[in-house]
Amino acid sequence: MQCSAAQFVNAIPWPALLIRRNERIEAANEPALTLLGAGIEGRHFITALRQPMLIEAIERALEDAKPRRSEYLTNDGQQDTTYKVSVRAIENGGEHVVLVCFEDVTAFEQAGQMRRDFVANVSHELRTPLTALIGFIETLKGPARNDDAARLRFLDIMEDESKRMNRLVGDLLSLSRVESQERVRPTEIMSPNDIIRTTVHSLTPLAEEAGVTIETDLPENEVSMVGDRDQVRQVMTNLTENGIKYSGSGSTVTLSLTGPSYEPRLRAQAIRLVVCDTGQGIEPHHIPRLTERFYRVDSHRSREMGGTGLGLAIVKHIVNRHRGRLEVDSEKGKGTCFTVILPVT
Ligand SMILES: Nc1ncnc2c1ncn2[C@@H]1O[C@H](COP(=O)(O)OP(=O)(O)OP(=O)(O)O)[C@@H](O)[C@H]1O
Ligand SMILES: [Mg+2]
Repeated sequence: MQCSAAQFVNAIPWPALLIRRNERIEAANEPALTLLGAGIEGRHFITALRQPMLIEAIERALEDAKPRRSEYLTNDGQQDTTYKVSVRAIENGGEHVVLVCFEDVTAFEQAGQMRRDFVANVSHELRTPLTALIGFIETLKGPARNDDAARLRFLDIMEDESKRMNRLVGDLLSLSRVESQERVRPTEIMSPNDIIRTTVHSLTPLAEEAGVTIETDLPENEVSMVGDRDQVRQVMTNLTENGIKYSGSGSTVTLSLTGPSYEPRLRAQAIRLVVCDTGQGIEPHHIPRLTERFYRVDSHRSREMGGTGLGLAIVKHIVNRHRGRLEVDSEKGKGTCFTVILPVT
């Protein structure tokens, strides 16, 4: 059986071109036409590709038949796409043709960038308290050596800073644990009513200290569903803690539970866990970014409150693991509601 060059190129799942010694494009598959434009077949490859690095790689491969790698960048007006391009010669009866394959490595590059950003952020977050600790240690060894009052004050600050570092490391570990389990479906049976009750019980002292009232709105019936009890409790704790921390004295945080009922977006029976506060609200442009690691609306205020900026990132991963949804509604000056929708099975 004889296959044509075009048939071979068509069978390649990535954008691919075949270029002849006469420098014309002999064949281009569908993905290549989508990438480079219809009607490139038969044209000179320079007019179709237009990127000097890649053009040079092809020109040289046409001359010496050696394999090369290059890069091709595009932008569809919204985002950049990066392709790694392999340029390889194929012997064809004394002559050679060049096969050019494009591999989309954008996601890979983005993952690398995210990892670099993450390491930079973690280092920065750890360095701030560490710098404070080093500064106070030096002061205690030097100028404040014999000053009892200053020593006590500095030790208090040092205690706070080391606790903050400890919390940060704890949150990072819990984020990484949650992330590594994200594809493992929970199997435990839990009661969301119970989770709300225990969350309220454990956060009442914090709320009292902040002058915030906690209220609950629970259905008569006890709901029982599949879910990871500790993780869902962590979700409710993080959301309630935020409500308490960012609303200020005199406000109210309400935890409520509704359902199970049919949720069209999840196409399943699901419950809704809602944490509402009567605080200052969050401006709309911040909302899509809240679940990013280390994202804070007011970083000064969050740090002052001992926040690490990881709370909502952890919430998001736990909700994903449960195949649920997280919704945020906020009105400036009125308050914020975080809704967690979790399927019951
Ligand atoms: N209920 C809320 N009202 C107003 N702002 C909020 C509320 N919840 C979260 N935010 C804002 O979102 C940011 C991110 O919240 P997140 O819980 O992820 O981090 P954090 O509270 O700063 O630190 P952590 O929870 O790790 O101690 C907060 O810094 C805060 O600016
Ligand atoms: Mg928080």
